[in-house]
Amino acid sequence: MKVDVAQKLRQRADYTQKFNANTGRHGWLRLTPAYSVKIVEELMGRYEKPQRVLDPFCGTATTALSAAYRGHEGVTTDINPFLVWLGKAKTAQYSDATIASTHRICARIIDITRRDVIKPVETPPIYNINRWWCRESLHFLRRLRAGIESESEDQSPERDLLLVGFCRALIGASNAAFNHQSMSFKQDAQLRIPLNADLENMFINDMRFVLDGAEDNPHKTGNVLLGDAKMLPEVVDGSFDLIITSPPYANRMSYIRELRPYMYWLGFLGNGHDAGELDWSAIGGTWGVATSRLNDWKQPKNVFMHPLLNASLSKIAHRENKNGRVLANYVAKYFSDIWEHLNSLLPILGRGSELHYIVGNSTFYGVLLSVEKIYEAMLSSLGFENIQCCAIRKRNSKKELFEFDVSARWPN
Ligand SMILES: C[S@@+](CC[C@H](N)C(=O)[O-])C[C@H]1O[C@@H](n2cnc3c(N)ncnc32)[C@H](O)[C@@H]1O
Repeated sequence: MKVDVAQKLRQRADYTQKFNANTGRHGWLRLTPAYSVKIVEELMGRYEKPQRVLDPFCGTATTALSAAYRGHEGVTTDINPFLVWLGKAKTAQYSDATIASTHRICARIIDITRRDVIKPVETPPIYNINRWWCRESLHFLRRLRAGIESESEDQSPERDLLLVGFCRALIGASNAAFNHQSMSFKQDAQLRIPLNADLENMFINDMRFVLDGAEDNPHKTGNVLLGDAKMLPEVVDGSFDLIITSPPYANRMSYIRELRPYMYWLGFLGNGHDAGELDWSAIGGTWGVATSRLNDWKQPKNVFMHPLLNASLSKIAHRENKNGRVLANYVAKYFSDIWEHLNSLLPILGRGSELHYIVGNSTFYGVLLSVEKIYEAMLSSLGFENIQCCAIRKRNSKKELFEFDVSARWPN
């Protein structure tokens, strides 16, 4: 059956508007919610003089990109190599010649994909891959990926731009339904088999969007580094005037799980074991091996203790709560990791530097975890001054879930 392109575009527009009504490079991959970009832009706009800005939890490089557009020096770190690659591609500067040659390469790729004269890449080892893509889409994507490999130079800016377009096409061609912050799969009844021409047009449109964004170069490039935010002095050089970040929330969201289609197709993940290991090293991760390891996790010495945190942990661990103990361990490990992160920040803070953490609270078994208050208490015990907490927005229909800007100043 023919795909209803108009309907597909409407679905995509819905998702785009809800989570990523961003244009240019902020919208290259639909991962960063529009409000998040707005908050970061608003915070960054408060500083007229160029600042040295750090975002220890890069994600899709919102902070580094905003800093680069505003002429600040932006440095950002992430533990996920895919996001580091994406952050570099987003914050890079692209010449007119690069953009023109990418347009030409794209036309060649479409041509060889259409004529079916290229050997498709192997199907990536994504569990239950047929839930993601029907046979026709999968075959198209495998040829498209092979075309990108054969027609562009390894590690060239053209290759990066084409791969960003490919990542967009992956989701555009998928059966994933983005009807909430996480994702689900459309049911058989909603599925339509796409024509090659529809898939080609989708990729061409994705590339147009990416190349239009690439034309709008930031004043500076960002510095995007692979590393663990619990060991910052080993990852970044010098000191910073401003820290703006949105750390992982204590809400059991796994970034590896969410990003796995891109990561497998681009070769950043090769198997489920590595995915679980990466999730375990990420703060707040609970996917695969990470969940089973939480059962045996023991609090390290020198951990941050606070009556509010302890009271929440014992309520969550209550024996009437199925999995209560493992979830209490999840929360305890989350704060233990954040504590380690905040401690590793101290040696790289300039005198009088300011920090903004955009954090969300959570609930477990109806127990409200006041994440923002625990961040405030941690900052206070580390010696920060002028600690403030400002509610920014309600997160969803649950009335108690909010996002906060927890800010503070490091003493002069
Ligand atoms: C909430 S997201 C950041 C969102 C980001 N502000 C954006 O605009 O996309 C949190 C990020 O922290 C990263 N992360 C988790 N643990 C980390 C660690 N130990 N060191 C560095 N990054 C980590 C995750 O990979 C994820 O990209």
